[in-house]
Amino acid sequence: MIAFGCDHGGFELKKDILDYLEKNNIEYKDFGCFSRESCDYPDIAKPVAKAVASGECEKGILICGTGIGISITANKVKGIRAALCGDCFSAEMTRLHNDANIVALGARVTGPGLAVKIVDTFLNTPFSNEERHQRRINKIED
Ligand code: RB5
Repeated sequence: MIAFGCDHGGFELKKDILDYLEKNNIEYKDFGCFSRESCDYPDIAKPVAKAVASGECEKGILICGTGIGISITANKVKGIRAALCGDCFSAEMTRLHNDANIVALGARVTGPGLAVKIVDTFLNTPFSNEERHQRRINKIED
């Protein structure tokens, strides 16, 4: 189960991402928002991050205008490693090296075609499980 959330700045991209998830039979829980009406990204990012941190959802996708506010907020939740990605290389590396559990996107920065590819890369790249990467991840929470 994937946790999905966006603010009004990310709403434009929401349909493309949910279409991708549905076409690939990936189950998701939609934490909003549900219209273009202005809202506050922490109100979306926190429930998504908590759903991932608790294990209710395996990974998360968060979108705001830049991806910055929503990723900063998600990273305040213990156990969350949210990576703001604007390219597929970063999406792949953050899974391999950081075992990132949330991908954040900036809808006003990254076009829909690339954003879908980033999500696809993120969801389909496993953690490397290499000792040095796990050691570094453990130090994040120390
Ligand atoms: C909303 O206008 C915008 O500030 C928000 O979507 C995001 O970019 C914040 O980091």
